[in-house]
Amino acid sequence: MTRTATLTFGDQTIELPVIEGSEGELGVDISQLRAKTGLITLDPGFGNTGACRSAITYIDGDKGILRYRGIPIEQLAENSNFAETAWLLIYGKLPSQEQLDTFSERLRFHAPLHESFKHHFEGFPVDAPPMATLSAMINTLSCFHPESPEPDEAEFFEEAARLISKVRTIAAYSYRRSMGLPYIYPAPHLHYVANFLHMMFSNPYEQHVASPEVVKALNLILMLHADHEQNCSTSTVRVVGSSKANLFASCAAGVSALWGPLHGGANVAVLEMLESIHRGGISAEQALAQAKDKSSGFRLMGFGHRVYKNFDPRAVILKKAADEVLGSLGVKDPLLDVARRLEQIALEDPYFVERKLYPNVDFYSGIIMRAMGIPTNMFTVIFAIGRMPGWIAHWKEQYDDQAGRIARPRQIYTGNTETDYVAIGKR
Ligand code: ACO
Repeated sequence: MTRTATLTFGDQTIELPVIEGSEGELGVDISQLRAKTGLITLDPGFGNTGACRSAITYIDGDKGILRYRGIPIEQLAENSNFAETAWLLIYGKLPSQEQLDTFSERLRFHAPLHESFKHHFEGFPVDAPPMATLSAMINTLSCFHPESPEPDEAEFFEEAARLISKVRTIAAYSYRRSMGLPYIYPAPHLHYVANFLHMMFSNPYEQHVASPEVVKALNLILMLHADHEQNCSTSTVRVVGSSKANLFASCAAGVSALWGPLHGGANVAVLEMLESIHRGGISAEQALAQAKDKSSGFRLMGFGHRVYKNFDPRAVILKKAADEVLGSLGVKDPLLDVARRLEQIALEDPYFVERKLYPNVDFYSGIIMRAMGIPTNMFTVIFAIGRMPGWIAHWKEQYDDQAGRIARPRQIYTGNTETDYVAIGKR
């Protein structure tokens, strides 16, 4: 039976179809609203707007559920790795051994950057924000690897592997440049994460060998960040891709959206906040009081989420991982104690309880990355590397959607009504 919702406005009444998702989520299809009534909807921040149908990631924010292609994040965190999870997100099911081997081989193949590409890094100031470099360099990939405007499946496969692989090399090179260190070429015998750590931390005279614990933890961080349905950066990728912009251009835009402190940039802001508390700048209690005071403009970074109103399952996994990684590396980081204390008092505070504000993925990820020796300004870059398979999967889903249209929202105009031009001498 087709369900409908009834909208009455003035003397007009219309029936709007109700769409049901595979997990029972209901949405009112308003695609004919304007044509039938002249009305549009207004939903700042899109908190009530479904922009597409998607089969990639499912989140139930009240129950703290996150699944990639139906598989709970906890199972992937326990059993999978980043390359396999990337395949799952992009192609919709777990790869066979042969598919995974082929994919891994293509990731290895695409890891080096064109030699001329390498010289582009010299054009940026050494203290350039790594997210700016990353976004620019992903766009630059379009110059070195022009994409077919309408890639077939085989071309798309190569483009996806090229982007997932090269983003890691670009990230490592931007770090090396910022430190005044020589670039380290990828090592073909190393897997995805170990190869990234090699390019970050090896020297021409000394091979860096990452411990299995660090490789495992970074794999975990990348997997947990790999997709999160229609978040700000993914929506950006879909909006840009809806104009038929190529994969690199669309994902470069995603990097820019991710950069902001209310989104991926929060992992940097969290660490700065914890450091400030630790240095005695402010106490945990003062930070909490400031976050509750709207006039301060300060928010408790790493807390709150548009969708999760119970707990963020990624934060739960990372909190446990933080203990394990720091323990295995023998790192005693006072910021972990500050984070635990802050979490404890926030979760007991009525302001946070009433608004259902819980630690999000960014709250503990920075502490783990810091223990691995990754500098703070690279945290959001790591997030971008992790999110790449999600962006690619969404770009492709939209590309394949025959009913897809260019994203072009409407507005409620609030400016001047018709106003005459006044010559400059008479103003
Ligand atoms: N600290 C203090 N108050 C907060 C916080 C916070 N971190 N987050 C939300 N609130 C308050 C708001 O002031 C608002 O209060 P009000 O109802 O009295 O006006 C209420 O909680 C609801 O907040 P909204 O801003 O409406 O929530 P929204 O869904 O728009 O924002 C967001 C979600 C951006 C994540 C927000 O919680 C925030 O700014 N958090 C801090 C930044 C952060 O950690 N971002 C990372 C998010 S996860 C990710 O992108 C990977």
